Amino acid sequence: MRITVINGTEQKGCTFHLKECFLSPLQEGNEITEFYLPGDFPHFCLGCKTCFMQSEDRCPHAEHTMKIWDAILEADLLVIAYPVYVSGIPGQLKALLDHFACHHMVHKPDKGMFAKRAVILSQSLRSSNRTGQREVENNLTWLGISDIKSMGFTLKDSYLWDELTQKRIKKIDRTVRKMACNYRSIAPTKKSIKVHFLFAISKMMIQKSLKNTCTPSSDAQYWRSQGWLS
Ligand SMILES: Cc1cc2nc3c(=O)[nH]c(=O)nc-3n(C[C@H](O)[C@H](O)[C@H](O)COP(=O)(O)O)c2cc1C
Repeated sequence: MRITVINGTEQKGCTFHLKECFLSPLQEGNEITEFYLPGDFPHFCLGCKTCFMQSEDRCPHAEHTMKIWDAILEADLLVIAYPVYVSGIPGQLKALLDHFACHHMVHKPDKGMFAKRAVILSQSLRSSNRTGQREVENNLTWLGISDIKSMGFTLKDSYLWDELTQKRIKKIDRTVRKMACNYRSIAPTKKSIKVHFLFAISKMMIQKSLKNTCTPSSDAQYWRSQGWLS
């Protein structure tokens, strides 16, 4: 199995330990590729729309985006681990996800995404983890991933891993490892009802756009090339 991990921070702190706990039962026999933000993706989307109008490999940041996107496409399991910042996701993760907007269902979805699974791991000091998780889940669903599981922790005692009580660390470790064991052997997943629905709506939008113009958009040309427009 191939696993691609996006780490939403370069700190070797709580997020890092959470992710390491998750990966520990999956180390053997699996190929794991990791990226750390913002180091491996130090860009904001410029809003040039080149990815929409032409293609993603023309993005001014293609050197970085393509490396991460290719690793996501090759993976059976995608893991996104991040700390909650200001009750949501950290800016560096948002900046990366913005660069993948061109692969959302309404633009150029990649059929390789439909069979993938994803896990979202997050932690905060005290805030709820749900706002950020919903945002990442929403992004991944629009990218075509059907099986997405989220797990979040509120640390409460401290935001420094070494200051957490052994009892707390053991509890986090146990819970995350248990979740990871579900991914020891995974089969490709089927499209969920939600992904089917978003795909159908997107198809209608693309078909409608074709009726209103003689020059098909880059998105419509892509849908046609995939054989999705009958
Ligand atoms: C800029 C910044 C903003 C944060 N905002 C929140 C927040 O709104 N709510 C919260 O509970 N924790 C917040 N935290 C704490 C983090 O969620 C996290 O617990 C802490 O950074 C430890 O994780 P790390 O060791 O992986 O960096 C924030 C931390 C930083 C650095």
